[in-house]
Amino acid sequence: MNDKGILAIALTLALIAGGVLYFVIDQNRTDQLANSQLAASAATGQQLYGQYCSICHGPLGEGCIGPAINRAEWRDINVGGSKDADLVAAHDLIVKTIHQGRQGVQPNPQIPNMPAWGQDNGGPLNDQQIESLTAFLQYGDFNTTIYYIPSANLAGDLQVPPNSSMTITDTRPIKELMLAKGCLNCHLVGSVGGNVAANLTLVGGRRTADWMKRWIKDPQAMPAWERGPYLWAYTATLALSLYATPAPTITPGGGPTPTPSNIHMNPSFMPQIPMTEAELDTIVNYLSKLR
Ligand code: HEC
Ligand code: HEC
Repeated sequence: MNDKGILAIALTLALIAGGVLYFVIDQNRTDQLANSQLAASAATGQQLYGQYCSICHGPLGEGCIGPAINRAEWRDINVGGSKDADLVAAHDLIVKTIHQGRQGVQPNPQIPNMPAWGQDNGGPLNDQQIESLTAFLQYGDFNTTIYYIPSANLAGDLQVPPNSSMTITDTRPIKELMLAKGCLNCHLVGSVGGNVAANLTLVGGRRTADWMKRWIKDPQAMPAWERGPYLWAYTATLALSLYATPAPTITPGGGPTPTPSNIHMNPSFMPQIPMTEAELDTIVNYLSKLR
């Protein structure tokens, strides 16, 4: 081969290499752009999560009134990498659930349903906000959500239990106790308290006194399947079937049999709070009357 031939081959190779390199860099840039847009969207979603969702799904997304939504199978570990079909399916299921809400199949009718949040379903959120929330659930960091939860309102009196002989005056020492133990920083009771976790205003209707005592003594010791009755032992297929038209008739407790692998609850954010048996009795007696 003459020199010109070698030069031509060398040039061609260089061009190909350059092209490949350019493609790689360009692909990288596109990924980075997508990542930064995704990150911005997830950050907006985190604020919305703290404002609207933590109260039922927990500040860590660990599950509370609703199931855990800090779910490994929904999250893309390689952000910007190739998303497989499962992640797209998870995205679609999450968007649909937020948009339209979902009637639960829990055995206890006192467990609130997942509300519909989309504006065309009467909710407060537009499509972009729902995409942001979904980006947060799939790519965001739950560990900092606590900073975005509106602060507690500690003024005023506790809810006076209806159908009981208790008066406002009777509730005052209980409020002091619940303030001292920190309960009201996280939980709302009537119009007093915080928005971190479950609203306790009707808790006596869905939890027995025995359950509450066990729970408050040691939240981490409560098995997942007792935390929210049966616990959203859903598969994606069953979840999607709930949106079929006509909507299926929901039998309370009619979900699949819970097993450790399909129960969607992760370790609770509620701390173990030291107290005497008498203090525990006072609080639980009061909470049991809230129904
Ligand atoms: C009043 C309580 C409540 C609030 C507030 C709430 N949820 Fe839910 N959510 C639920 C319940 C209950 C379910 C489970 C419904 C069922 O049994 O199918 C659920 C289910 C879900 C699911 C589906 C979980 C799964 O396993 O399929 C997603 C996603 C979800 N909620 C997201 C959100 C987001 C995002 C917000 C805030 C905008 C939010 N939820 C606010 C109660 C709530
Ligand atoms: C740091 C926040 C935090 C504090 C403080 C806290 N809790 Fe909780 N609590 C939670 C979370 C999170 C849950 C969600 C339940 C779960 O994870 O399954 C919960 C659940 C509960 C429930 C069950 C609610 C339901 O609807 O099923 C009761 C009852 C309860 N807490 C009572 C108390 C009492 C009483 C105190 C004070 C002694 C207290 N909590 C303090 C975070 C807190």
